[in-house]
Amino acid sequence: MKGAILLINGPNLNLLGTREPEIYGDTTLADIENKLKTKLSAVGLELVAYQSNQEGQLVDFIHEHQTAKFAIINAGAFTHTSVALRDAIKGVGLNFVEVHISNVHAREEFRQKSYLSDIAQGIIVGCGVQGYELAADFIIAELGH
Ligand code: DQA
Repeated sequence: MKGAILLINGPNLNLLGTREPEIYGDTTLADIENKLKTKLSAVGLELVAYQSNQEGQLVDFIHEHQTAKFAIINAGAFTHTSVALRDAIKGVGLNFVEVHISNVHAREEFRQKSYLSDIAQGIIVGCGVQGYELAADFIIAELGH
């Protein structure tokens, strides 16, 4: 959809609600998607939400939505490994906010490297699932809606 806002979630984020609730909370991905849809449609923006556990499918989705205005991306573990995802985002010139539910900097060493942070417009880390809403607020302001 032309001019849409993308919400892209990577591997294991489909398990939100039941996955390690002490780290990720008990909100489901459907709850997050619905909340953001409502928030953005109230200011005339359309949300297109996508989740995949497959790296190539995430790359394809980005290629297929090149006309999007902005994205909110939680790439899950691919954040720390995926040159392909970074190249796809850069390759189509997609502006995005990187979101992590947990504070990755307070966790294992391997979570502290992100292939996305230096090409993101902003980064929201450790604010729980509220981080997605904060990212949406930032995008609304950036786009002047
Ligand atoms: C995460 C942090 C990643 O390190 C992890 O692999 C995830 C979720 C977060 O939202 O806190 O899957 O991106």
